[in-house]
Amino acid sequence: MTISYAIVGAGMMGREHMRNLALLPNATLVALCDPDPESRNQSSKLAAALGFEPQVFGDLDAMLSSVTPDAVIVATPNFTHFDIARRLLAENVAILLEKPLCASPDDARRLASMAIDHPRTFWVGMEYRFMPPVARYIERVHADETGAPRMLYIREHRFPFLKKVGDWNRFNRNTGGTLVEKCCHFFDLMRVILRDEPVRVFASGGQDVNHLDELYDGERPDILDNAFVTVDFARGARAVLELCMFAEGSEQQTSIHTIGARGKIEVSIPSGEIIMSPRDRSGLSKEFVSVPADILAAGDHHGATYHQLSAFQGCLLQGRPPIVSALDGYRAVEMGAAAQQSIQSGTPIPIARED
Ligand SMILES: NC(=O)c1ccc[n+]([C@@H]2O[C@H](COP(=O)([O-])OP(=O)(O)OC[C@H]3O[C@@H](n4cnc5c(N)ncnc54)[C@H](O)[C@@H]3O)[C@@H](O)[C@H]2O)c1
Repeated sequence: MTISYAIVGAGMMGREHMRNLALLPNATLVALCDPDPESRNQSSKLAAALGFEPQVFGDLDAMLSSVTPDAVIVATPNFTHFDIARRLLAENVAILLEKPLCASPDDARRLASMAIDHPRTFWVGMEYRFMPPVARYIERVHADETGAPRMLYIREHRFPFLKKVGDWNRFNRNTGGTLVEKCCHFFDLMRVILRDEPVRVFASGGQDVNHLDELYDGERPDILDNAFVTVDFARGARAVLELCMFAEGSEQQTSIHTIGARGKIEVSIPSGEIIMSPRDRSGLSKEFVSVPADILAAGDHHGATYHQLSAFQGCLLQGRPPIVSALDGYRAVEMGAAAQQSIQSGTPIPIARED
């Protein structure tokens, strides 16, 4: 059976999804929707080069009245996610909504509760879990190699935010803030690795280097470019995120370290190296997890987009529940928003659990 896809939002990430759909068996692209003529033009050309013949629309309602895809991938700016997802929930389509679920925790909570009753798959694009070295790393942590994790440390040293269509990512009001927009991935990884829920978030951060000389209609961007975020988890583990977005010279962009009573295990991206260091010094071991070249070349996320789409399609075909639910999407937004709030207030932010 072939799954038919539509892509709403044909900018950078929409086109990354297109390139990965072309690698996926039994997937076809039947529609594209984007109000921006240049995005439509570029994505139409890419679709043709990939062998797809999608119908192209500038408006979501027009698309939904002409085409009935099996699944819709939403890759539009964060502040549009709530309205677009709400519109799609009225249709009998599976939905893969790019991260973050929404730009604000209130919208994310509302959308997550609306998505519960959707009869088809609703999946949030928290794709870092699907990066092959990270997926293998999580498997090894869950195999208890370190003993129960007590400390988790995630470091992201990377390049500044790229230019986007209409420069939407330059302002917190459009993105939810850097710790929601970018770092929802890392908060999701914390929950997945620790298999636990956060109870308190404390953060310090600032906008010290990037975008300081940019003006959009006379307004300077207000997005953080560095932060430390400490998260306490319900069963007592502690996690830290260290983000620096003016570190594009780094050899390794991302590294994750988990430490328990038996030892420490770490992974680095892009090297794909996993190192296990037992505490008893019985010998350090190394494993390399590679990503096939065609999958690596189809995106900027170290194979994550392909493997996530493959898992999404597997759930559709086999009628399984989503691996990344709307609730997971909400939790990641909630943690990011708490971190943003902590930076503003200078105080720890408790995370209440009523469920
Ligand atoms: N999973 C990841 O790792 C990852 C990476 C990058 C971006 N993203 C997410 O993907 C989304 C898109 O980011 P991007 O980098 O592609 O941005 P972009 O600016 O390159 O593209 C966004 C596109 O959406 C279009 N658009 C705006 N409003 C629309 C609407 N109402 N209906 C249809 N299209 C609309 C714009 O015209 C533009 O072409 C964001 O939510 C972003 O956070 C996720």
